[in-house]
Amino acid sequence: MEIKSFNTEFILYENRNELPAESAALLNKAHEAAQHAYAPYSRFKVGAAILLENGEIVIGSNQENAAYPSGICAERTAAFSASALYPNVPFKKIAIIAINLEKPLDEPISPCGACRQVLLEYEQKYNKPLEMILSGETGHVYVFKSIHELLPCSFHSGFLPKE
Ligand code: THU
Repeated sequence: MEIKSFNTEFILYENRNELPAESAALLNKAHEAAQHAYAPYSRFKVGAAILLENGEIVIGSNQENAAYPSGICAERTAAFSASALYPNVPFKKIAIIAINLEKPLDEPISPCGACRQVLLEYEQKYNKPLEMILSGETGHVYVFKSIHELLPCSFHSGFLPKE
């Protein structure tokens, strides 16, 4: 018997002004996207912005529904849209930010398991690390160098039968 562990590393920035210019600009796009989220039920607006290898930026926001499970998170809206618009272009970075309409968030939010799984799929498809930038409206910003850092021991296509 052996005890094993996973080690998750991330960079902590004091605030978004410390970020490299490209990441700060991407976070601004995500913030803009969050403002246009459709979140009348949770009153929790999330924005995501994906920078692709070709320089394009694709945004997404959470889209809710009166039939609650029919809604979808900002990250998956952005990822599916990016893959639909640019089917063969690797994802380079994703910035994620949330606006809580009841109280300002001063710590980063963290994506749900389903979104991690979806983002990992594209990271593995292109075999290129996808950097993730997480932020609240103010305060610290976390940067993870790859989705794998946030979802070790994942389920992936390697388990499935070969075509
Ligand atoms: N949500 C996201 O869009 N992304 C996250 O990372 C966490 C949660 C959405 C889902 C739902 O519309 C609302 O936030 C409250 O959970």
